Amino acid sequence: MEPIRVLVLGAGRRGTDAYAPYALKNPDKLQITGVADPSEIRREHMRIRHNIPPENCFASWQACLERPRFADAVFICTQDRMHFEPAMKAIEAGYDILLEKPIAPTARECSLIERAAREAGVKVLVCHVLRYANHYRKVKEIVDSGLIGEIVHINHIEAVGDFHQAHSYVRGNWNNSETSSPMILAKSCHDMDLLRWIIGKKCTRLSSFGSLKYFNRTHMPEGAPPRCTDGCPHAAECPYNAVKVYCSPDTSYWFRAAATGDPNPTQEKLLEAVRTGPYGRCVFQCDNNVVDHMVVNLEFEGEVTVAFTMAAFTPAIEREMTIMGTKGYLRGSLKQEKIWVTDFLTGHTEEIGTRNGQFGQIGHGGGDEGLVRDFVRVLRGEETGDRVTEIGISCESHMIAFAAEESRISGSVIDMETFMRRQADKV
Ligand SMILES: NC(=O)c1ccc[n+]([C@@H]2O[C@H](COP(=O)([O-])OP(=O)(O)OC[C@H]3O[C@@H](n4cnc5c(N)ncnc54)[C@H](O)[C@@H]3O)[C@@H](O)[C@H]2O)c1
Repeated sequence: MEPIRVLVLGAGRRGTDAYAPYALKNPDKLQITGVADPSEIRREHMRIRHNIPPENCFASWQACLERPRFADAVFICTQDRMHFEPAMKAIEAGYDILLEKPIAPTARECSLIERAAREAGVKVLVCHVLRYANHYRKVKEIVDSGLIGEIVHINHIEAVGDFHQAHSYVRGNWNNSETSSPMILAKSCHDMDLLRWIIGKKCTRLSSFGSLKYFNRTHMPEGAPPRCTDGCPHAAECPYNAVKVYCSPDTSYWFRAAATGDPNPTQEKLLEAVRTGPYGRCVFQCDNNVVDHMVVNLEFEGEVTVAFTMAAFTPAIEREMTIMGTKGYLRGSLKQEKIWVTDFLTGHTEEIGTRNGQFGQIGHGGGDEGLVRDFVRVLRGEETGDRVTEIGISCESHMIAFAAEESRISGSVIDMETFMRRQADKV
């Protein structure tokens, strides 16, 4: 079988580092044969790495999709507010699509993409990478085996990590719902997807609370300048001092590459980025408006309840899920890559490791790579069913996130059936 030929639209962090590397490891299955990005540095980086013919390199997705179809599929890895248009255009051209989450920042646009894909008969997989991580596949397998009986309640915590919040949701790309999307969609559409998938039933009602409590001007220390490099008198005691966090050799490649916008983030480029770019701003003086903590209570069919928490104020990026069943209790830590299952009959607790030997822990517990592997399988007709995040399923879990945001803002309990009907009327 010939390898699947893919065009990467948006050669940023996700396009370049999360998904395209699968082609280098598996050239018999996937080849990156085109790239579109206005940044010459990123485009060139991708062209050289994947040996892409120069005539297949474009300065925008628009220019790339103007050409009659010349590959099997596209990876849409542009920013949140730049998914709808390339997705609609790619569907029209007949490309299958690996579409970054969120599908789109409004419920209406999500539904329009879903409908267009269905009508055109193209496959669209949404990048809910956690569903492809060994850890959550194991959780799902245990639940489906009946080992812990029927699910009664789930307690799920998304620990964003204080530094991650400061980077992405205070200073960075996802800090303002007007320019990206609400945080429950940007960050936690993955969690809504996991919950819907693991429970295997529809969400019936929900309510939510949350706000931007800390990363705002109210908490700005006296005399702090707008940029960390402008002689901040609080530099030594501020955990978010940009020079300290970005220019340290301990900072991960991902943060350094994102802060500089350069796949080769040298110390010189980092200092320049901190001095002049968005990542050098005082975290208490940014244009951010997304929440730093939020809770959602959800009810699913069959009297299943869920308490979901997303909060910035945690030392590490982590997801912890506790599933309370009629016959047993499951606790999982994605960071530790472990699941503990307690049987109520025997009282015995079994510890299960979930590290994926093939993909390792990097990239969402191996989910980034697992997603591309399954995208190839779906296109080859080798994988179907609810293990993959086909757009129809993803649209449903996105609607839960949109409803949660509406509840948080309006202070009301949302009935999902009514909410969905209201959304359908808008399409
Ligand atoms: N699935 C996940 O777990 C996950 C994790 C992080 C981010 N994301 C999502 O992935 C998307 C990309 O995030 P990222 O961190 O890679 O962002 P990024 O900013 O690093 O990459 C986006 C790229 O799009 C390019 N671009 C801008 N205009 C363009 C155009 N007209 N045509 C082609 N390219 C254009 C930019 O130059 C940039 O290189 C976002 O929607 C984000 O929310 C998903």
